[in-house]
Amino acid sequence: MIVEGRPILQARNLRKLFPVGRGMLFAVDGVDLDIMAGQTLALVGESGSGKSTVGRCLVRLIEPTSGEVFLDGRSILGLNSVLLARQYRRVQMVFQDPNASLNPRMTVRQTLIEPLRLHLKMNRRTREARARELVEMVGLTTAHLDRYPNELSGGQRQRVGIARAVAVEPDVVILDEPTSSLDVSVRGQILDLLMDLQAKLNLAYLFISHDLQVVRHVSHRVAVMYLGGIVEIGPTAKVFSEPKHPYTRALLSAAPVAKWGVKRTRLRLSGEISSPIDLPDTCRLVGRCPFQQPVCSEARPKLVDIDQDHAVACPIVLAKTEGPPPFVGLLATPSVTAGAHPATLTQ
Ligand SMILES: Nc1ncnc2c1ncn2[C@@H]1O[C@H](COP(=O)(O)OP(=O)(O)OP(=O)(O)O)[C@@H](O)[C@H]1O
Ligand SMILES: [Mg+2]
Repeated sequence: MIVEGRPILQARNLRKLFPVGRGMLFAVDGVDLDIMAGQTLALVGESGSGKSTVGRCLVRLIEPTSGEVFLDGRSILGLNSVLLARQYRRVQMVFQDPNASLNPRMTVRQTLIEPLRLHLKMNRRTREARARELVEMVGLTTAHLDRYPNELSGGQRQRVGIARAVAVEPDVVILDEPTSSLDVSVRGQILDLLMDLQAKLNLAYLFISHDLQVVRHVSHRVAVMYLGGIVEIGPTAKVFSEPKHPYTRALLSAAPVAKWGVKRTRLRLSGEISSPIDLPDTCRLVGRCPFQQPVCSEARPKLVDIDQDHAVACPIVLAKTEGPPPFVGLLATPSVTAGAHPATLTQ
């Protein structure tokens, strides 16, 4: 896939399985993604699809079960702890709930100074100057430096969380639903702040969100996750106006505001999301997809380019994009479970 720009953080075949009872929970199962320097890649998908687990693996809050992570082209999963800490200064995270992620016993100053001491080995005076600069950068004042988290509003706490993440001059920030715990009135301000900082500091973001309207507004590219895998990835404008994967189409159909895209059509999936435990090696949408064909149960579809920087993991969509063979016979005779072919529904 050709993506414009320079990849800064890349995942290849990233997997994270959790042992549960007698089985394995497939939280993340074979994720490939490229986060481009200075750009935002959004990660969307329903609850439990594995978005936060991808984020946590990328910042190494949890160890992936297998796969590769490259920072600036360099593999970092095999590094020893010293080298890893040095590299990992460059990848930071902002959490959904600043109440839970800030230490209630530390003032804002202490919260901001800690990473400076750990990662940048700044002396006391430089640290103080940097802490002052950081609060102002995120729209707070130096008076906030002496406050504890419980003396701040939700929006102010998230500003501190953001200041802590950018304190050590990272290249990439993983934003895990950074505004969803906040009052609606301050969400816009925090998003504006994030956009400002991206432009000023040339930050790359992985923006994990349920809010498709916000995603459409802030991200350059979007990756759609379903049950541990990415089913579609591409430029935001293209994915929103011409979603290809049945799951992406259903996800966009379910969004409350139907304004994006002329080619958008309603698509509902039947049934419920499957359990993520001991998943079979088939398309994860089998049983819910109206276009399902026997080929969907033969192997798990891989992401394949359908256009420059737009890839989809669906043999049915691919058959349509590539022209007649190899599935033409199959598509001409809809199976009992199959509904209309995507071609008939994209008008
Ligand atoms: N530590 C863990 N042990 C066992 N299972 C886990 C663990 N962490 C996550 N999971 C499971 O992994 C799957 C993916 O979880 P994850 O939190 O990544 O989803 P998500 O897409 O971020 O969901 P949400 O939108 O609700 O935040 C879920 O089925 C979840 O229950
Ligand atoms: Mg999550």
